[in-house]
Amino acid sequence: MIIFRPLATFTTGSSRLPIMGWLYYEACEVADVPPGTKTRVQVEGYPVAIYNVEGTLYASGDYCPHEQVSLGSGGSLDGEVVTCGAHRWAFNVRTGACLEDPGFPLKRFPVGRKHGKVYVGFWSDEAD
Ligand code: FES
Repeated sequence: MIIFRPLATFTTGSSRLPIMGWLYYEACEVADVPPGTKTRVQVEGYPVAIYNVEGTLYASGDYCPHEQVSLGSGGSLDGEVVTCGAHRWAFNVRTGACLEDPGFPLKRFPVGRKHGKVYVGFWSDEAD
């Protein structure tokens, strides 16, 4: 479900400009991710890991950049650091940085919450 579309399509004469902005989709309930935990969800069919670090929510692509193992359903979360359960690579969920190799950052997404639900933003530059 889209809850926020920051920019609309503009019509200028005979040409239309593309929509660009973050589109937020419902991901899960806030209660599904208590502080100090993480979870794996599907957002519009895309696997996303959601982390709760002392009440602040972060989101990344669910798959570890090393060999595509789920970060949301495996491994561990310690403060801002998620450690993959497969080969123990660690990532900062706030910055996305890989602590093993800076060439393998997490793909991060903005997170919002409203009325007890968590929303994840995907960038859109689609022409409408
Ligand atoms: S798949 Fe995550 S560290 Fe190897």
